[in-house]
Amino acid sequence: NGKTFTLNNGVKIPAVGFGTFASEGSKGETYNAVTTALRTGYRHLDCAWFYQNEDEVGDAIRDFLKENTSVKREDLFVTTKVWNHLHRYDDVLWSVNDSLKRLQLDYVDLFLVHWPIAAEKDGQEKPKIGPDGKYVILKDLTENPEETWRAMEKLQADGKAKAIGVSNWTIPKLEQLAKIAKVQPAVNQIEIHPFLPNDELVKYCFDHNILPQAYSPLGSQNQVPTTGERVSENKTLNDIAEKGGNTLAQVLIAWGIRRGYVVLPKSSNPKRIESNFNSIELTDEDFEAVNSVAKDRHFRFVNMKDTFGYDVWPEETAKNLSA
Ligand code: A2P
Repeated sequence: NGKTFTLNNGVKIPAVGFGTFASEGSKGETYNAVTTALRTGYRHLDCAWFYQNEDEVGDAIRDFLKENTSVKREDLFVTTKVWNHLHRYDDVLWSVNDSLKRLQLDYVDLFLVHWPIAAEKDGQEKPKIGPDGKYVILKDLTENPEETWRAMEKLQADGKAKAIGVSNWTIPKLEQLAKIAKVQPAVNQIEIHPFLPNDELVKYCFDHNILPQAYSPLGSQNQVPTTGERVSENKTLNDIAEKGGNTLAQVLIAWGIRRGYVVLPKSSNPKRIESNFNSIELTDEDFEAVNSVAKDRHFRFVNMKDTFGYDVWPEETAKNLSA
């Protein structure tokens, strides 16, 4: 899949990116997965300082480029993100440098603020955990991310990142950022799949030249606790896939791309890594059928509220819509 989108600063971004979050996290798993992905043809890797596996991603990139001299660093699109306890100006700069060292790169293509939450640190390497077992939120910096964003702009100006953006930001937070920012965010990376189509937020992003990126595009294999439903078991979706001789993942990836945003599937299984990249196009009828599954759904599978002790989505919680 060679399709690309263009960011608000003119930088091209491949429509399908490979997610490197390894839930098992066993040594070598990320290296093998990224190596398979690069050999398959993925040129876009989605990383994060928090995933604690940037060293393995870096080793895989280094070895792949050594073996494939026709592919250059410039042909790759590498994203990474700053974690919550590193939102102070100097810490943001420290974070990008630490990621670059681990990734063995001298710039990333995209650098994101991972969550709209600033938390206290316990040394550089980890967030401070309070007596309640949750992050210790820095209220002022969370409510006003200006200091954080100035650092993001600085590292872009210094060439450490070609583009800067955010992840898990809501419309009110994006509205606030728009007022603070000298450089507007290029991207908002959020959870999107047919059980969480996130229509309003996606529209806001498009209207403001922010490209959405979908994480957990396959629905994370998780169940809706109230109903036990899984995206992967939805009959309509599986029928569409079967009828076309495709996998459900291919249908879900195609749906996202057709909706106009980047999709970030992740897998540690070589066959699935390959088939996910082997993308298809949906017929109008199938596209509408997926839309009808998504209609009126709003179910979040990734909600860090209990870990952070902070509600990133108060608006939907007030409507009692989230997990
Ligand atoms: P695996 O690594 O065994 O392939 P999401 O991106 O929505 O969070 O989903 C990630 C999960 O989906 C992973 O557990 C991954 O497991 C699984 N997965 C990835 N690709 C496919 C696929 N083509 N078919 C089924 N499951 C997949």
